[in-house]
Amino acid sequence: PTLNVTNRSGEETTVEVAEGLTVMEAIRDNGFDELLALCGGCCSCATCHVHVDPAFKDKLPEMSEDEDDLLDSSDHRDDNSRLSCQIPFTAALDGLKVKIAEED
Ligand code: FES
Repeated sequence: PTLNVTNRSGEETTVEVAEGLTVMEAIRDNGFDELLALCGGCCSCATCHVHVDPAFKDKLPEMSEDEDDLLDSSDHRDDNSRLSCQIPFTAALDGLKVKIAEED
């Protein structure tokens, strides 16, 4: 499956992702250094914040309370905000589009 990533400069890149990775790992492993993911995916840093294409909203896993609280700490939260480490990349998400959130 493929993932489409828009960086902070607005450039879009489509990457091929192995299933089983999280969206955060897929982005980080493809060289996007804008996504810091400082906590390594433990849902405690919020530096893996992305905006997800609303067309995929129904296919994403439910947000946990921890994720919700962490996103609240961002000045750039919107209705499409998610922490990318909390989204396992599956075939159902093929073609998913995400935009790396502005830095807090
Ligand atoms: Fe830290 Fe996602 S990598 S919350």
